[in-house]
Amino acid sequence: MSAGLFVVFEGGDGVGKTTQLKRLSDALQSAGREVVVTREPGGTALGHQLRQLILHGDHVAPRAEALLYAADRAHHIETLVRPALARGAVVLQDRYIDSSIVYQGGARGLGDQVERISRWATGDLLPDVTIVLDMEPDPSRMARDLDRVEGETSRQADKIRRGFLMLAQRDPARYAVVDAARPEGEVFHDVFSAVRDAIRRAREAGASQGAPTSPTPPSPVTP
Ligand code: TMP
Repeated sequence: MSAGLFVVFEGGDGVGKTTQLKRLSDALQSAGREVVVTREPGGTALGHQLRQLILHGDHVAPRAEALLYAADRAHHIETLVRPALARGAVVLQDRYIDSSIVYQGGARGLGDQVERISRWATGDLLPDVTIVLDMEPDPSRMARDLDRVEGETSRQADKIRRGFLMLAQRDPARYAVVDAARPEGEVFHDVFSAVRDAIRRAREAGASQGAPTSPTPPSPVTP
């Protein structure tokens, strides 16, 4: 069990992950926590190059695409995320294994192997909480600039949405599904409360194992 807290944001394209990540980061930092904000693909220098290749390059065969996401993930988790968690930081991450399950496993039709590859790539590191920002896909998004994967999977936006919801149902204790179609402040209220619960659970688990407890959870903020 690490001293830090691993929080992942998932959801379809354009649901407001970046905005909520920023608000959460500000709130936790004000409460005195070290916060590391990162993303997949692209949280490291290697990841940045992989992101360019996957999202802004030429056609990539679906299995190669799945392996490139897994390669980015393996490097990112080992070199950035695990060290941050070990020193007690809160890691706020935009997308993780669930995105591969939903986009490559589901939308690309590659199936269950995708999850196994990512679990292997990360040594089975799972988030303390995954926040699924959920809303009905917005067709006006389709008119805007989409990356290669978004462009090729945009007609499957409903399937992608259902994929994240199914993953949340599979393991409800580790997930918070937040209705992202509401005003930003209301969404943040639920996001923050899910993270506060996760901090409490992590402390209780640490205490029951006799491990050092993580730092005091931040006091509630008014969103
Ligand atoms: P972003 O725009 O939210 O950073 O996401 C980047 C794109 O990559 C988005 O289209 C979703 C896609 N993606 C996958 O297909 N599989 C993955 O494992 C991840 C992390 C992202």
